[in-house]
Amino acid sequence: MPQSRLHLGAEAEVTAGTWFGLPAVMKQRRARGWRHPDLDERLGRQRMLAEARILLRLHRSGLPVPALLDADVDEDRLVLEQVDGRPLIDVLRDASVVDVEPFLHAVGQAVRHLHAQAVTHGDLSTNNIMIRDNGGVVLIDFGLASIEYDLERYGIDLHVLDEVLGASHPDREGAMAALEAGYLDSEHAGEVESPGGTVPSAADVLARLSQVRSRVRYHG
Ligand SMILES: Nc1ncnc2c1ncn2[C@@H]1O[C@H](COP(=O)(O)OP(=O)(O)O)[C@@H](O)[C@H]1O
Ligand SMILES: [Mg+2]
Repeated sequence: MPQSRLHLGAEAEVTAGTWFGLPAVMKQRRARGWRHPDLDERLGRQRMLAEARILLRLHRSGLPVPALLDADVDEDRLVLEQVDGRPLIDVLRDASVVDVEPFLHAVGQAVRHLHAQAVTHGDLSTNNIMIRDNGGVVLIDFGLASIEYDLERYGIDLHVLDEVLGASHPDREGAMAALEAGYLDSEHAGEVESPGGTVPSAADVLARLSQVRSRVRYHG
């Protein structure tokens, strides 16, 4: 796969190229120096396997996530369909994009679709949400995602976005309100019921978000 680096993080290196002719990205997990190497290897592998499993499950359910093209456990790498677009952080920083409200509304809908599958993301920053060239939303980076029924985890997912939008994009007024409206619009996006529990309603998650906000404010 011919390569050009897209991202070098603490956990992984992401490169763009092709995979049997398809535009693809390779996510190669990196060893981290400061942890014990054995533990490091085990944690990294677990996260990569969890990410692969959740991506497969979500893609099968029709969620807007990249297709998983290959998973090589021995080499610690995943190959994913390359999303034609850019991360939400770039869109929000692009002064030529005047009206971001439709994007944020669509992001709220995508997050609710995710939650309706009983999956919480665990790291919903504006780096982990892609906006396609056609305006569609794609969620990426499921290394910290899990199947959840605990309301708190759903509220925290939205709270992370709330904090990132407030801290990194303060000029985009009303961003979180647009996102919340999208989230609520998708209230009945096919919640799954399973032996593990029931997905909390969109209204309950938004109420929990308010609680988390005031808790954080109170404790500084
Ligand atoms: N499927 C993809 N298509 C296009 N770009 C991607 C894709 N996956 C990741 N990227 C780019 O690489 C960056 C890092 O990928 P990510 O999965 O978030 O890794 P990390 O765990 O290191 O944050 C993303 O923010 C995005 O810019
Ligand atoms: Mg990421």
